[in-house]
Amino acid sequence: MKILLINGPNLNFVGKREPEIYGSENFEDKLGEWKAEFPQIELVYFQSNHEGEIIDCIQKAYSEPFDGLIINGGAFSHYSYAIFDALRILTIPIIEVHLSNIFKRESFRHHSVLSAACMGMISGFGMKSYVLALEYFQLNNS
Ligand code: DQA
Repeated sequence: MKILLINGPNLNFVGKREPEIYGSENFEDKLGEWKAEFPQIELVYFQSNHEGEIIDCIQKAYSEPFDGLIINGGAFSHYSYAIFDALRILTIPIIEVHLSNIFKRESFRHHSVLSAACMGMISGFGMKSYVLALEYFQLNNS
């Protein structure tokens, strides 16, 4: 099973950025752990701070044989209709994830414009939000 994981802006700074909100672990370490934890999942990782690059990556997933997409759009989640439109192109299951519980934070974070293009959202479990999304794909495939 091949799963694409897309992280949006500033998520490359997780580990250093506001650790009281996002934790002190970074994705480089976590990706290695997840690949070992989910050997049946081929995990392809992409991070960008640029909206257009994220859209290009989503569009590429249209023609590549991915079985699912996990996306944390970062702040783009709250206002990028362009990423929403790109997600709507795909027919594979999409899970939106957030490290923090966006509903417990500033009001501008309470709404994600991406959610309506996704199967569901996992928000508030730190790095485990990603693990729960991977678990879903694994369960769904067994
Ligand atoms: C985030 C929540 C967003 O509001 C924020 O802009 C981020 C990270 C999260 O994972 O909790 O960059 O997506």
